[in-house]
Amino acid sequence: MKKPSTLTLATLLAAAAWALWAPVALAVDAPKSMRGADVNAADAAADTKPWAGKRPGTQPLVARTFSTQPPVIPHAVENFDEITLEENQCLSCHGIDVYKKKNAPVIGDSHFIDREGKKLATASAARHNCMQCHVPQVDAPPLVGNAFQGDVVPDKAAKK
Ligand code: HEC
Ligand code: HEC
Repeated sequence: MKKPSTLTLATLLAAAAWALWAPVALAVDAPKSMRGADVNAADAAADTKPWAGKRPGTQPLVARTFSTQPPVIPHAVENFDEITLEENQCLSCHGIDVYKKKNAPVIGDSHFIDREGKKLATASAARHNCMQCHVPQVDAPPLVGNAFQGDVVPDKAAKK
């Protein structure tokens, strides 16, 4: 067998040096994760925030930010029965037939329009599951600052 040439030896030495040095260099250059955890670590669940909930009429309304926004619920809901096909406790205060007596705001105008745009005398079945759109208030500041500008006139946002 031929003796390894000087060139081959130099190449081998260079490769060995790279193998030793590369991991150090890569670790230094590794991207830093913006969420502060290792990039390979699974996301930790966010803290559960309690709903701000008291009796109806005792909590300030959260201003709406755009006209088609479902307003957040300004009262507790945990003590109400779950909404089922037969029962909906929300409507026992917000229904068109009872809201005046209960001194509660009636469900929105959009709740009396069916999917073809026809006006209905009673609430549309598509609005039966209130909590699909309306959620209780939570003291949760935005995670990321933003400059979103809504389209609601302040006077309207405060309406009860
Ligand atoms: C015991 C009567 C009662 C029941 C039951 C009730 N609410 Fe209310 N709700 C009120 C009253 C009174 C207000 C007026 C605002 C307040 O709380 O100050 C209100 C306000 C609201 C608002 C805010 C409207 C706005 O303009 O900001 C929403 C949304 C709402 N309720 C949704 C619900 C949903 C959804 C349920 C069922 C999970 C429900 N409510 C059950 C009495 C009730
Ligand atoms: C598909 C989404 C959706 C569902 C389901 C829904 N809402 Fe709404 N709700 C809205 C939106 C959007 C608005 C604001 C526009 C309007 O007033 O119609 C609103 C407005 C309201 C308001 C304020 C009305 C006003 O004039 O200020 C009340 C009260 C309300 N909803 C109660 C309910 C109750 C109670 C239910 C269940 C029976 C319900 N909503 C189901 C989307 C929804």
